[in-house]
Amino acid sequence: MPEDTPLIRSIRAAVATAPTDVTLRLHLAELLLAAGRGEEAVAEAAVALQHEPANGDARTLMLRAMGAPAPAPAPAPEAAPAPPAPSFDWSQAEEQLSDIVEPRFVDPLAAEEPDGEPDEPGWDVERSEVTLADVGGLAEVKQRLQAAFLAPMRNPELRRLYGKSLRGGLLLYGPPGCGKTFIARAVAGELGARFLSIGLSDVLDMYIGQSERNLHDIFETARRNAPCVLFLDEVDALGGKRSNLRHNAMRGTVNQLLTELDGAGADNEGVFVLAATNHPWDVDSALRRPGRLDRTLLVLPPDAPAREAILRYHLRDRPVAGVDVGRLVKATEGYSGADLAHLCESAAEAALLDSAASGEVRMIGTGDLTAALKQVKPSIEPWLAAARNVALFANEGGIYDDLLAYLKRAGKL
Ligand SMILES: Nc1ncnc2c1ncn2[C@@H]1O[C@H](COP(=O)(O)OP(=O)(O)OP(=O)(O)O)[C@@H](O)[C@H]1O
Ligand SMILES: [Mg+2]
Repeated sequence: MPEDTPLIRSIRAAVATAPTDVTLRLHLAELLLAAGRGEEAVAEAAVALQHEPANGDARTLMLRAMGAPAPAPAPAPEAAPAPPAPSFDWSQAEEQLSDIVEPRFVDPLAAEEPDGEPDEPGWDVERSEVTLADVGGLAEVKQRLQAAFLAPMRNPELRRLYGKSLRGGLLLYGPPGCGKTFIARAVAGELGARFLSIGLSDVLDMYIGQSERNLHDIFETARRNAPCVLFLDEVDALGGKRSNLRHNAMRGTVNQLLTELDGAGADNEGVFVLAATNHPWDVDSALRRPGRLDRTLLVLPPDAPAREAILRYHLRDRPVAGVDVGRLVKATEGYSGADLAHLCESAAEAALLDSAASGEVRMIGTGDLTAALKQVKPSIEPWLAAARNVALFANEGGIYDDLLAYLKRAGKL
């Protein structure tokens, strides 16, 4: 996406504080269009139309934006924007806004950086904007999360009492696209902690010792930023179950992770480790021993309330009219969160193409969404098939009892 000019940035900030102000939003759309950013102008005009479907200016602008030529291929980020409409007085507009828009974007982390200390290279620490209240449905998952993780973590007294037994972390597992990453982020929000998310495949390095050093750096970064949720995604990348050769090469990395989790020689106070995998059966068994990633949490495909929350979320900024969410929720049993996002996108695309073809702007309706259901199918079937085998034949010590219960409930056994 091209970088915003200062004016676009100010108006965008103003729109963010007054999202229902249609005039302001159309102003933004107009500027985007003038800068050759037709698609973004379409999106803003669409939101304006959602608030005021009969607004003539919004409709005209939408049509102009849809007819606008695509931006030149791969423009340099600093490429000069298309010349603005000659009738528009930029400096006056900027002046008008100068005292409305305040403050410009500030980065809380950068602002709090102790003097002179450079930013961490490579590992990005974020602040989490979401909490468990943003996670739709999944009452059971949230309840277990509270009991197994949040309650003891929130309370330093309890933490001390539990001592070593609270070391290690919680392993989230489940089918792809069903909210593991989202939940980890929400946990950081709940704890008021920072969020450091790492895909383990990015840590692994072919040079001897480098993977270990990377892991150590990551834990050190988390410790410096405590309280911090350290989210280790794809922990199965460390798994050695598949080949012994890989297993040997990984041994050092697994051991390093164990050392870091145990906090040997370091203080892990305020570092909350969450790990995730789609394939818990490939996670190195050493990592799953008591005191390590021993507590597991099955993150299930979204239930009805979760699907409703996800659908509403993905339609919130789109020009929808009279969408029967209840009906869609019923028709999307077995869809993952990612599938639902895809569904909404397909429907929006169809409505937009239709509008462009007919020259008549129309809203996204239930019809577009049900039509999209024919193209977008649930993607988690292959996962369920694999999970079924594991739950039936490799449920040692009952570690997959949750999974077994879910498969039974869902009629997949
Ligand atoms: N219960 C929920 N409530 C609200 N949104 C959800 C919920 N579950 C999933 N989502 C949404 O679904 C999308 C996919 O979720 P996420 O990326 O967290 O899945 P994942 O399990 O981490 O997937 P992967 O295995 O591919 O890493 C996200 O955009 C998230 O916002
Ligand atoms: Mg994820």
